[in-house]
Amino acid sequence: MKASAIAHSNIAFIKYWGRSAEHPPLYNIPLNDTVSMTKLGLEDDVHLKTLTTIAFTDDQKTDMAYVNDEALTGRGMERVATIIDMLRESSGCELKFLMRSRNDFPTQAGMASSASGFAALARAAASALGLEMNAEDLSKIVRIGSGSAARSLHSGYVYFNRGTSHETSFAEQICDNDAFDIRAVIAVIDADRKKVTSDDGHASALTSPFNEARVMTSQKQAATIREAILERDFSSLGYIAEENCKYMHAVMMTSEPPLFYWQPDTLRVIKSVMRFREEGLECYFTIDAGPNVHCLCRPQDMEELNRLIRNLEGVKRTIQAKPGPGAYDTGQHLF
Ligand code: PMV
Repeated sequence: MKASAIAHSNIAFIKYWGRSAEHPPLYNIPLNDTVSMTKLGLEDDVHLKTLTTIAFTDDQKTDMAYVNDEALTGRGMERVATIIDMLRESSGCELKFLMRSRNDFPTQAGMASSASGFAALARAAASALGLEMNAEDLSKIVRIGSGSAARSLHSGYVYFNRGTSHETSFAEQICDNDAFDIRAVIAVIDADRKKVTSDDGHASALTSPFNEARVMTSQKQAATIREAILERDFSSLGYIAEENCKYMHAVMMTSEPPLFYWQPDTLRVIKSVMRFREEGLECYFTIDAGPNVHCLCRPQDMEELNRLIRNLEGVKRTIQAKPGPGAYDTGQHLF
């Protein structure tokens, strides 16, 4: 009972920040609908992916999980075990598991390693346990570990319905990765592990006086950006994504305790993106829970934007990306 899966990270255009207090915290039901693009890294050394192998075996006396050779403990292990417990229960399996996982990009640095990680974990575990589950059904379980991971099960552009219950809160595809080609140039400013995880951030979002306004606006923006994606309207997509990013960071900065994920160099990239746009290169920024900036552009502008961003002071490197595949099984095992 062993299987492996690969999943890619995703970038949120409409962000998930804060879980609903009206539902049991375990279910991790987001406050608003979210929209993302699953990403495939175009660099030789970075594809923005996680490879995970899991085995359920008599040889294991306790559940064990390793990410990049580091054993998971505490909350990290708890999140993994919760997902596996639900899948184990569905299959009737009582065996303990061993999991090994490898990211080809910085872990817990605001680059959605939890998204690819939990998506790969769930896909591999479902296969190892012989469960036939489609991406939508699996997304309900993955959401419990990480809301953004639910979206990485799908390829291309993805809509997450916040729903009103565990059963109705799931991710579905808007359109496939080859249906609409846009690009992201990721400005890596700091690849170190962030001090406050998004898991903790979701709890403090409700303390911001701007939280309600962000949630209401995000609902409208999610519907509009879905239309923009279906109409292949890059300008509307970029504009709305940039707005929504600013709202989320305003909530973060005004929460108790406040969260400032931006660094001075983050602001330098933001201002540069706005300047490049004024000068005629159409690009937009969006930032998750970290200092690194995703600069969105059309395919024909990626090379030029990459050159400009890479040369900015404070940018350690860039990672170019395009719409990527959903989670899939692989015969490439880590053990
Ligand atoms: O899924 P989590 O708990 O890692 O939270 C993700 C939060 C953001 O990346 C900031 C936004 C998002 O929707 O991906």
